[in-house]
Parts: sequence; structure tokens; C-alpha cells
Amino acid sequence: MSMTSAEIREAFLSYFAERGHQRVPSASLIPNNDPTLLFVNAGMVPFKDVFLGDEQRDYSRATSAQRCIRAGGKHNDLENVGYTARHHTFFEMLGNFSFGDYFKREAIHYAWEFLTDILKLPADKLWVTVFTEDDEAYAIWANDIGVPEERIARIGEKDNFWAMGDTGPCGPCSEIFFDHGEDVWGGPPGTPDEDGDRYIEIWNLVFMQYNRQADGTLQPLPKPSVDTGMGLERIAAVMQHVHSNYEIDLFDALIKATAKEIGTDDLSNKSLRVIADHIRSCSFLITDGVQPSNEGRGYVLRRIIRRAVRHGNLLGAKGAFFHKLVPALTAQMGQAYPELVQKQQIIADALAREEDQFNKTLERGLAILNDALADLEGTVIPGDVVFKLYDTYGFPVDLTADIAREKELTLDHDGFESEMAAQRKRAQQASQFGVDYNARLKSSQRSTFTGYTETVGSSEVVELFAEGEAVQQLAAGQQGIVVLSSTPFYAESGGQAGDTGRLVLNDGVFVVEDTQYIGKAIAHHGRAETTVTIGASAHAEIDAQRRAAIKRNHSATHLVHAALRNILGEHVTQKGSLVTAERLRFDFSHFAALTNDEIVAIERQVNEQIIANHALSTALMPIEEAKQAGAMALFGEKYDDDVRVVRMGDYSMELCGGTHVQQTGDIGSFRLVSEAGIASGVRRIEAVTGLAALGYSQQQQQLLRNSAELLKAEPSQLPERVQQQLQRAKELERTIADLQQQLAAQAGGSLVENAQLIGGHKVIVAELDNVESKALRGMVDDLKNQLGSGVVVLAVGQGEKVSLIVGVTKDLTAKVKAGDVVNVAAAEVGGKGGGRPDMAQAGGSNPAAIPAALAAAQQRLEALLQ
Ligand code: ALA
Repeated sequence: MSMTSAEIREAFLSYFAERGHQRVPSASLIPNNDPTLLFVNAGMVPFKDVFLGDEQRDYSRATSAQRCIRAGGKHNDLENVGYTARHHTFFEMLGNFSFGDYFKREAIHYAWEFLTDILKLPADKLWVTVFTEDDEAYAIWANDIGVPEERIARIGEKDNFWAMGDTGPCGPCSEIFFDHGEDVWGGPPGTPDEDGDRYIEIWNLVFMQYNRQADGTLQPLPKPSVDTGMGLERIAAVMQHVHSNYEIDLFDALIKATAKEIGTDDLSNKSLRVIADHIRSCSFLITDGVQPSNEGRGYVLRRIIRRAVRHGNLLGAKGAFFHKLVPALTAQMGQAYPELVQKQQIIADALAREEDQFNKTLERGLAILNDALADLEGTVIPGDVVFKLYDTYGFPVDLTADIAREKELTLDHDGFESEMAAQRKRAQQASQFGVDYNARLKSSQRSTFTGYTETVGSSEVVELFAEGEAVQQLAAGQQGIVVLSSTPFYAESGGQAGDTGRLVLNDGVFVVEDTQYIGKAIAHHGRAETTVTIGASAHAEIDAQRRAAIKRNHSATHLVHAALRNILGEHVTQKGSLVTAERLRFDFSHFAALTNDEIVAIERQVNEQIIANHALSTALMPIEEAKQAGAMALFGEKYDDDVRVVRMGDYSMELCGGTHVQQTGDIGSFRLVSEAGIASGVRRIEAVTGLAALGYSQQQQQLLRNSAELLKAEPSQLPERVQQQLQRAKELERTIADLQQQLAAQAGGSLVENAQLIGGHKVIVAELDNVESKALRGMVDDLKNQLGSGVVVLAVGQGEKVSLIVGVTKDLTAKVKAGDVVNVAAAEVGGKGGGRPDMAQAGGSNPAAIPAALAAAQQRLEALLQ
């Protein structure tokens, strides 16, 4: 019997409806009010509260065909899609549910009857598993149903205890497997080969009994319940007598449409499967209200779209193709899901935008990755490369993993994580500008700040602190803090650094190294050159030159903030700022690295505003009035009722308590010196103004001159000359590689001639000289070909480094695993490695121990092959 997917869906729902189950339509993919879950990932999710006893319905049995996403959170199959016959990011789950009504016995009977009576599957093709301790389910299968004991396996918690997420309903389960026949490789559940595709799980019966708490404890549910799930695509494969889900009716049409759109004939290409899977998940996610973004669900959607686009490029797609597949999808699934048809334009638009954006960065990112791969030794892509791709080029980590996998490489996940941790730390530091000197000090003074207009001023010492205590006097030479009744010194705030300078007292001098607030008091931190006493009169003088530089940088910060919003978009908001005499630093929200063109445009716009020489105006006004006038305020910042608004022409208006130039022309000039990401979606720029900007330009020019001199050229000729040198280096490398290959072939020939025989198998164990470790993989492939059947173990020492490689011809991998042998050898040279059963590599750091490493490999081979 053969059935279409639509027929199976209907047969299932009516079978259970006839047995008293309420037919419930598929819920949205976005869980309703459930922060513990990214997506609906199983048919039971919409019923979660009913299982927990928190919600009552007027039925105690239900059945549904629920759309599900497994591409984020606890159940994530994204990386497997395309590589197996049965994983999807999106699929439909057929389920029957009992809320405190029937339990194990009926659930098992229903499932068996549906499979064998309705779908007419042969009983001897069905295998089942139960949770290790579940004697009850075992007895039902063995005694009531009559499944022979050799086809029932007891399996542990990993596979046979199902949980919705880290918390929530869960319980032991019993799974039903279908045997696709001996043409397909794989073993029954619970055997070492179970991951093969021969025995495929088709239906999972979960006996819901507990609610898992956040601390891991299991709390019994009010009533034992049942939740089952059968993937529609899997059972359709069974019913349509195909072995892969991707060959069923639903996918066949999508794969053909994709192939047509891209212009390829090879319908078996796995990239077509990936795209056909992804257009389903992406379209349904957008239907349910998700849009690509850099956070949460939107980020998962973005990752899936990007993965699809890249697979399209692998197939040679010219330009955007993904959004053009929406009509083919609605033709397949529009009848079962009318909302898909309604929203098809929205879906296509969102996909087209994202494709376009990604195509722009893809090329640059791939170039970086290919460079890194060309220099790669071993089989692991370093964490800093993965991080750079993620951070600068928007490559999701699983996309890089996917590319790596095609090239039989893996990622250094730990290295990536530590780069991420370092970034988080930078972000944390970024939000803690300055040192909190004053955490323990308290003052009830309120100093008047005169520094908006003055650089000097006379007043009186009203408070002194030393070593964290209020004191009456500071001794000559002592570090301490002086509070004046009024002062032109600006205390660090709003990102602007505190002033430095000196206080001339009637009996001496206090050198001010920094200025901070203690409550409302302005505290001058520094060193007393002579005794300082409370009540002394003081003449305060700030370092006016330094302050002038700070002002230039502060005013330039406002200009750059406005320029970023003009050029990058209104989504740019300030995330932090630091203004010192040397430079300005500005952190802001934005999702991608600034391009060269953007940097040029920002510099240009800020300098235009400097030349426009706007007069700065400041005004105090009520906060509401300022906001209404359009002044930029920081989100989440606490402002007084009256705020100070700083305005530069019509170009910039911000709430700010800092000190500024009088005319924008005073800033002189502006250069951006660096740009980097400091947290997900947060970029940091640093810039200089005034003479520092000139200094920066001159320094850059000097670098160009020096480089040009090295190449005996004019700076204007540099690009061409560097290009020539690179070309030449490439040619030389090619010559060297050819020569090495010739040498290696000669060496290889004699290696093959001198191969030893262990247990009748040809084995080469050798140390090589003058071979680049990069050439080793190619050599091992050649040697394996020449041997026909055998094992090759090679070692090379280069300076302090050792490279080891083991190759095993396919016919011997059951006896000898390359990874096992390479690790025995690597242990001797202080290294560790890995790879596939037929090829594994390792590095090491002790060339002196190469003979010991080869001896260890030899010994292991003798044990395995004799
Ligand atoms: N909720 C169960 C599963 O998803 C049926 O496997």
C-alpha cells in the first residue's frame, strides 16, 4: 500500500478522532507565553499546561498534526540536516494525547493497531524499545501484543526518557522502529550500529509522569498521561517505500523546484535537501511572526536562511534564489496550512532582504576562511578564526561547522568559547568606565561647578580625606582628597574624564591628578606638596590644555553619534562612551563591522560639520521638553527633572552635562582610528581630533613611505608592487610544492617497495625528512592507493613540531582505526589527535621521541593485525 503524506495525516487524525480524541489544529511555532522554550518542538507543547494540571479542557483525549521546529534549544537537529536521511529543522508531528485518561496499555494498543491494521505495516518489520526499568511497558509489548523478545530492547535515559526541555513535563518512553531492510546499513536500537539508517524510529510513546523542576528534581504530575509523536515525513517514507525522508512526495516537488531555480540536474545533491528542508522552516517561522535578527528566535531564523543561501551557492546559484521557492512550498503545503498562502508575499520579502544582506558579506567571509584553511595544519579550524567569522562577517558558528564538515575538518569550539568570553569581559569593562575611588567615602558637601566657562577660580577647602577617612589636615607629601566649595574642575561623569591641575592654597600647593564625585561634592584627588588644612582658601587652576583636548573629543563624540545614525541608521544607540584628552571611544548598537566605505563617509560627515563651524549652544530645560525637541537621551539613564541640552547647529542635539568647544571648528579635524566588536551587536570605535588627528594621518603616511622604500617604489605604486610580490611568492611556493611532490613520490616508491607484512597486511611505518606537514595527507592517500590494502604511518619533525598521520584502507578499518593508532603514537611526542577511521592526524612537540612514537604505532599494529 502506498499513501501520500496528506492521506497519512488524515488517516491518523481520523483514526484517533473515531476513538474519542478531539481533533486540535496545529498551534503556532512560537510557544504561547512560555519563556522556557524557543520553539514548539513537539506535538505536546501546546498541551503543556494541561499535562501539568494548570489548565482544564473539556476533553481528556486529543489528536493533532503539529508543526515543529528543532533548530535551537534542547532539541536541535540543524547541523544534521542534509547529512542524514531523516533529520529536519521543520517537520510535522502526528500525535495522540491522553490527559489523565488512558495510560500505557491503551497507548501501546492504539499505536500497534494503527500501524498494522490501518497502515498495514508488516509486524515483523517493527522493533520496539522501552525504558530500562519499565517492566510494565515491556510486559505489554511482549505479552499483550506479542512482539518477540529479540525485537524489544531496554534502553536508558538518553533515548528512552523524554523531556520537553530542561524543565517541564517528562517521562519514560517507548519507541517503535521500522526496519528499512538489509540494503541499508545500520543495526537495531541499542546495538553499536544503531546510528545507521536501517532501523528508523517512527513513533515515540511518552508516558508522561513528572514535571522536571529547575533544580532537576522530578515532581509527579497530577495524573499519569500520554503524549505520542510520529514524524509525518518518516512514516511517509515508510509508506512510500523510500528510504530517505527527502524522497517522499512533500520533498520531491520542493527539491525539483529548487534544482530548477538554481539550474542543476543532480537531484541527489545533499545541498538540495538542505535547501528544501530550510525553505519549510524559514517560511513557517516567518508565517508565525519571526523576522531575521541577531537575537533569540530571529537569530535562529537568520542562521537557517544563511545556511540555505550558502548551500545554494555551493550548487552554483547565481544571485538570490531562496525567496523564489515560496510558491513551490505553498503549492505543497498551502492546503493544509492556509496561513502560508496568506503570508506568501511577506515571507518572500523577508527572505529576499536577508539573502541580499548575507550575499554581501559571504564573499569576504569565505575569503578569510579559505585563507585560514590554506594555512591550516591538522584538521581543526582554530577558535580565533571561527570567532572572527562570527563577529566580523556574521557567519553563524554552525555555518562554519557545516563548511568545515564538507572538508572533513572540525572546529575548535573551546577556542571559540574563550574568544567569546574575552569579548564578554571587554564588554563588561566597557560598561564600567573609570575606577570607583569613592565607593566607601561619604560627603554631605555640595560643590558648585564653575568649569563650563572658567578654567580658574577661588574658593575654600571645606573637606579633606586621606586613606578612606575624613581628616582635618593633609601632611606634606600625603596622598588625599580635597573638596572645595566651588571649583572649575570637572568631576568624571557621563564618560568624560575628570580634570587635572593644581590648587594653590594660602600655605602651599596640592597637585590634582584626577577629579571625581563623592555624592554632590567635587573631590580633587592628588598629592599635597605642603600641609593642607580645612578652611584654607584655594586658587584652583585646571590643566587648560588638557581640558581643551577633552572638549574637542567630547564635542566630536556628539558629532560622530549623529553621523553614525545618519549613515548606519536610526537603530544606532549609544552603549557607552569615554572621552579623554588623548582620544574618544564610543560604543553603539550595530550588527555588522563597519565597511571601509562607511568609515570614509563617517569621517567625511564629521569633518564637514567641523568646517561648518556651528556655534554650540547649551540650555537647561525640563526633561520632557528636551525629549520633545528631539534631544538624544540615553535609554535607561536616570536624568534630573531639569536637563542640560547641548546643540550643534541643526546637526546634533543631546542631553549632556559635559564640557564642550565653543564652535565646532575648534575641534580642528577628526579621524577614526579603530573599529571592533565588543559584544554581540555592539561595536566600538575610537577616534582622535585636533592635532592628534593630524599626527595620526602623518603616522599613516610614514608607514606608507617606509613600506614603499622597502620595495624601492613610490607610495602610489605600492598596491601594484605588493601584488607582484605576492604573485611571485605564489609561483615559488608552487615550484617548491612540485619539487617536494617529486621527492615524495620517489620516497613513496621505495616506501611501498619496502612495506612490511604484518599478519599478511602491508604496513608502512616511517619517518620522513624534508616533507611539509601540509603535504602529508596527499602522500598518505597516494600510498594507500599504491598499497591497495594496508596501513600507513608517517611522522615528520620540523623544528620543535611533530606531525603524525595514519591512513588505513577502507577494507581494514574494522580492524584498525586510524585515530586509535595515531593517538598511541602521539602520546609519545606529547600530542593528541583525531580524525576518521581511515585517516587521522596528530601534532606533537618532541621530535626526539619520533622513533618511540613509531615504535608504539608498530606495536599497536602488530597487536591488531597479527
Ligand atoms: N513528545 C514526544 C517526542 O517528541 C512524543 O518525541
